[in-house]
Amino acid sequence: MAGVLIRGGTVVTAERTWRADVYCADGVIKAVGDSLDAPADAEVIDAGGCYVMPGGIDPHTHMELPFMGTVASEDFFSGTTAGAVGGTTMIIDFVIPAPQEPIMDAWRKWSSWAEKAATDYSFHVAITWWDESVHAAMGTLVGEHGVNSFKHFMAYKNAIMCDDEVLVNSFTRARDLGAICTVHAENGELVFHLQQQLVAQGITGPEGHPLSRPPEVEAEAANRAIRIAQVLGVPLYVVHTSCDAALQAITRARLEGQRVFGEVLAGHLLVDDSVYRDPDWEFAAAHVMSPPFRPRRDQEALWRGLQSGNLQTTATDHCCFCADQKAMGRDDFTKIPNGTAGIEDRMHAIWTHGVRTGRLTMNEFVAVTSTNAAKIFNIYPRKGSVTVGADADLVVWDPARSRTISAKTHHQNIDFNIFEGMEVTGINVVTISQGRVVYRDGDVRTQRGAGRYVKRPPRAFFYDAMRRSRELRAPRSVDRG
Ligand code: URP
Ligand code: ZN
Ligand code: ZN
Repeated sequence: MAGVLIRGGTVVTAERTWRADVYCADGVIKAVGDSLDAPADAEVIDAGGCYVMPGGIDPHTHMELPFMGTVASEDFFSGTTAGAVGGTTMIIDFVIPAPQEPIMDAWRKWSSWAEKAATDYSFHVAITWWDESVHAAMGTLVGEHGVNSFKHFMAYKNAIMCDDEVLVNSFTRARDLGAICTVHAENGELVFHLQQQLVAQGITGPEGHPLSRPPEVEAEAANRAIRIAQVLGVPLYVVHTSCDAALQAITRARLEGQRVFGEVLAGHLLVDDSVYRDPDWEFAAAHVMSPPFRPRRDQEALWRGLQSGNLQTTATDHCCFCADQKAMGRDDFTKIPNGTAGIEDRMHAIWTHGVRTGRLTMNEFVAVTSTNAAKIFNIYPRKGSVTVGADADLVVWDPARSRTISAKTHHQNIDFNIFEGMEVTGINVVTISQGRVVYRDGDVRTQRGAGRYVKRPPRAFFYDAMRRSRELRAPRSVDRG
C-alpha cells in the first residue's frame, strides 16, 4: 500500500511538541524525524503551520443503540465517519445486554453491527444483571475477546439499572480478571421517585428532566460506586461526570490514593441547563440526555477538573435521536429518549474553549482527547501516541482556520446539533486512520467496514500497584497461641 508522508508539521503529543515529518505505511507509523523521504507513490501532505497529533479516541459512544423504545439514528459507519471528519479515529462503544439476555448473545449482536465501522473501535460491556453465567461470560470476554472494562448503569430503573448486589458481584469479578469498572452514576431510585412526583404535579415538559436528576442524585451514586470500589479494591472510571458535586467525590477519592478516573463530555463542558427552559419544546427535548446539562458554575468546575488532572478524559456519549424520536415524550418528559450527539465536534469544541482560552495546553489537549483514554483502557502506545510502530491514526490540525458548527453541514446522522452556531477556531484538515487518508479538506474518504475491532488486554498500568496495596492491607487473623 502506498504510504502517506506528512511533511513540515509540528508534532504534538501528550508529552511534548517538536518539528518533525511523519511517514506512515502498512497501517503504522514508520518514521518520525527531520526531512523524511517517501516513495514516489506516497500521498504527501503539506502540514506547514499545522499540528500533527494522535487521532482522537472517544471512549463513550452509542452507535445504533436500542434504547427507550427506539434505536439511535447513527450507525457504526455514519458515526465513525462523522468522527473521522472531526479528528476522532477510534471509539469505544458499549455492548448493553437487556436484563436476563445472555451476555455473549448481546456481544455477538453488537459485534455484527459494528462490522460496518469506518475506523477502529472497541467495546465496553455492560453488566445489567447477575448470575453464574454472567460471571463466566466476563471471564470469556476478558480472556478471549479483549474486553478490559465493564459498565454499570446505576440509573434507568426497570430497564438496565444495576442494584448494589450486582455492583458488588461484578466489581469483584472484574477485579479478579484485571478489568476496570465504569459507572453511569445516578441514583436510579431517586430519579424514578422524582419523575413520578414531577409528573403528578403536572410538570410533563423537558423542564422536568433536570429537576428529576439534580446533582445530588449523581453525587450520591458516584460516591457509592467509589466507596464500593474502594472496599473491593477495583479501579473505577466514572463516565460523563457532569457536576461539581460528583467531581468532588472523584477528587476526594484520588486524594485518598484511590484509583478513580473521571470522564467529562464536551456537551457538559459547554452547554448549560437553560436549554431545558426554552419555550420551544423540540429544542428543549433535543437536549434531553442523562445526566442533564448543568448550571454554568458546574461547567467551570469541570474545566478545572480537567486542568487539575482529576478528570482525565473527554468523550461525547454520542447517542443520536432525531426530532421524531424525541417526540415519543411529547406528553411526558420521562419518555423522551435520552441522548445527544457530538462525535464530530468534540475535538474542535475542546480546542476552541480549552486550548484557545488557556485552560489547557496543547499537550494536555492531546492527553484528554486521546492519550489518557489509551492508557486507562490499555491500548497505549498503539493508540494515543506518535511513535514508530504505533497505529497510524493521526490528525493534521490547522490552528488558524475557523468554521461554524451546524446541523446543516455536519456529517452526523441527526437533525440537531447541541453546538449549533458555535464558531470554532483550530480545525482538523486531514484525518489518517490505519495509515490511510480518510478525510482531507472536506473530502470524506472513509470506507464501510475498514474499521477493526481493537482488543484491550487486562491489567492496565495501575493494576499491579493496586494489587500490591491490597495485599498490604489484607486482613490477617490474630494468632492467640
Ligand atoms: O442520555 C444518555 N446519556 N444516553 C445514552 C445512555 C447513557 O446513559 O449513557
Ligand atoms: Zn450514561
Ligand atoms: Zn452513554
